[in-house]
Amino acid sequence: MVNKLIDEGMQAVEEKLHTIVDSDVEVLRDASQHIISSGGKRIRPRLALMAYLAAGGQDFMTAVPMAAALEMVHTATLVHDDINDHSLTRRGKITVHARWGRTFALLAGDYLFTKVYELMAPYGNTYNEIMADACIKLVEGETLQAAVAKAGTMDRETYKTIIARKTASLFEAGANMGARLAGADDELIEALTTYAYNLGLTFQIVDDILDIIGDPEKMGKPIGTDLVQNRGVMAAQNGGTAVIEETTVATAAIDPFKAMMEQLRDSGAVEVARLQAAETARRARLALANIPPSPMRNELESLIDLVLNRDK
Ligand code: IPE
Ligand code: IPE
Ligand code: MG
Ligand code: MG
Repeated sequence: MVNKLIDEGMQAVEEKLHTIVDSDVEVLRDASQHIISSGGKRIRPRLALMAYLAAGGQDFMTAVPMAAALEMVHTATLVHDDINDHSLTRRGKITVHARWGRTFALLAGDYLFTKVYELMAPYGNTYNEIMADACIKLVEGETLQAAVAKAGTMDRETYKTIIARKTASLFEAGANMGARLAGADDELIEALTTYAYNLGLTFQIVDDILDIIGDPEKMGKPIGTDLVQNRGVMAAQNGGTAVIEETTVATAAIDPFKAMMEQLRDSGAVEVARLQAAETARRARLALANIPPSPMRNELESLIDLVLNRDK
């Protein structure tokens, strides 16, 4: 029953995403359709719809444009992120910049991002402020990450700040807006946003783990990007930069990247990161205990395990 509602809502989100990128400028339309139709987990709009329904919302269509807007923000940042990370695959397909070049990838990202204004316009000030706040944090997180990676000054605290801003903020905003649209009281909004924030942290820690041990085929994107860029779980756990130690130099001569990846896998960083993910997941679960029991609350609970145990 609840799953059917979520599926119907997500179907509407999907339609919205496809129909809204309708520019008569061919390259914008093609590049946008390319990244949107490549798939993706759609976890942010799903979470927003679930928060709406968990908070007692009766007509999910009121939350659909907002949910689509969240996915648009996310998609736009992926197009730009792939330029910065020099990634060639995304969602199992060629990245926008690899296919259309950097100039059009930048512009396609801008185009997707401006669609957020269009989608959010009907909601008024409060919702637009929540969305703006999340977008600002996201850009700050990505920028901070690039800055500390360059400076080689990543420590655990900085890592937490980065993932909170670049990833958890959008999760949090989705649940906040979903709950609000359903007319939830402050307490319920607080519980659902705390849940979503911690789910977002968990999601990014697991993404950083998968960057070390994941299967690029399954994930549809490359692994090892964080290592190459001197950031992520590795830097967080070791409080420093990726260094090739004496012992790995011999192997490094053959394939330095492979040697560093092996060193990283052996370093215990993944195990420590798993503990951190378990802790943020625990906090998400704790927050859920503050909302009234319902089938949708059970679904939100299951989502934590899905995020923790995902391999793509
Ligand atoms: C990738 O997000 C970027 C991160 C914040 C880790 P997703 O893993 O949600 O990407 P898609 O949308 O499923 O492709
Ligand atoms: C990107 O983080 C998060 C964004 C907000 C764009 P990553 O750089 O780890 O995402 P992937 O691994 O490329 O999907
Ligand atoms: Mg990336
Ligand atoms: Mg990643």
